[in-house]
Amino acid sequence: MDQATELRNIVKHNNQGTKKVARVITVTSGKGGVGKSNVAINLAVEFTRLGQKVIIFDADFGLANIEVMFGAIPKHNLADVIYKGTSIAEVVTQGPMDIGFISGGCGIAQLSQLSMQQVGVLVNSIVTLDTMADIVIIDTGAGISGTVLEFLVASNEVLLVTTPEPTSITDSYSLLKSLSRHERFDAQNTVIKMIANRVDDTPEGQQLYQKLNAVVRTYLKLDLGFLGVVPNDQQLARAVMVQSPVCIQNPNARSSRAFASLAGVLMNKEDSQTTFRRGMSGFLMSFARGRR
Ligand SMILES: Nc1ncnc2c1ncn2[C@@H]1O[C@H](COP(=O)(O)OP(=O)(O)OP(=O)(O)O)[C@@H](O)[C@H]1O
Ligand SMILES: [Mg+2]
Repeated sequence: MDQATELRNIVKHNNQGTKKVARVITVTSGKGGVGKSNVAINLAVEFTRLGQKVIIFDADFGLANIEVMFGAIPKHNLADVIYKGTSIAEVVTQGPMDIGFISGGCGIAQLSQLSMQQVGVLVNSIVTLDTMADIVIIDTGAGISGTVLEFLVASNEVLLVTTPEPTSITDSYSLLKSLSRHERFDAQNTVIKMIANRVDDTPEGQQLYQKLNAVVRTYLKLDLGFLGVVPNDQQLARAVMVQSPVCIQNPNARSSRAFASLAGVLMNKEDSQTTFRRGMSGFLMSFARGRR
C-alpha cells in the first residue's frame, strides 16, 4: 500500500458517519504586513454574525499573530497534537464571540518532516475540525516559502490580500507564479480571489485588481477573481492596538462595513456552492501527498 492509499484509508475510516465537511478558506499574500491576519479575524467575526461556527487556524509560525490580535493565549498548539497526543478539541482556544482558534506554533515548521505515522495521527485528529466548524480560516505566513505554497496547493479557496504598494503587487504576482508552477497545483479545483486592502476608494481597488489580473492572465493563464476592497482605515489600526478585531470594536467603521460586505459575498448561495469542498480532511490529505 502506498502512502496516499494508506492515508485515504485512515480518512475514510474516520469520516464514516460524518457527512459534514468544513469550508476551508486560506488567506495569504506575497508581501508581509499587508493585512492577512486582520482579514482572517474580521471575516471570522462577520461569518459568526451570519450564523457560522468559525475556527481560525494560525499557520504562521513566525509571530503569534492571531493570538495577539485576539488578546488570548492558547495553552497548546499543533505540535502537542503530533507529539503529545493532545486532542484537537483541547488545542482550540475560544476567542471572542466563540470564535475558535488554533495556533500552529512550531508544529507548522515540522509538518514536512513528519513520519507517516505522525501524519496519520494528525489527520485523524484534524478531521474532527470538519464536525466542529462550518468554516475554517487558515492564516498563512507571507511569501513564497515552501510551507506557504504547500498550504495553498492544499486549499480550494484562497484569498490573496494585496495593497496598492508596488512591492505588494509584484510580490502577489510572484506568489501566483510559484503557485501556478507547483507540480500539485490544481487550477480546476482552486478558486483564488484578490482582496484589495488599504485602498482609498473602490475604484482604486478595482484598478489594482485589473492591473494584477492583466499580467496574471497573460503570463500565468490563471483565473484570478476579485472579492472586493477594504479601505485604509485608522479605526482598524486602533483596534489592533487594543487587541480586538475592528468588527467587534467598532462595527460601523469603514473597514468593518467592508468586511461585513465581503463575508456576505462569500456566503451568498452561488459563491458557497461553486466552491469545491473537501474539508479539513481533504486539505490534510493533499498536504500529506506532498511528502515523498
Ligand atoms: N485596512 C487597513 N487600514 C489601516 N491599517 C491597516 C489595514 N490593514 C492592515 N493595516 C495595518 O497593517 C498592520 C498589519 O496587518 P496584519 O497584521 O493584518 O498583516 P499581516 O499580513 O497578517 O502581517 P504578517 O505578514 O506580519 O502576518 C496592522 O497592524 C494595521 O496597523
Ligand atoms: Mg499575520
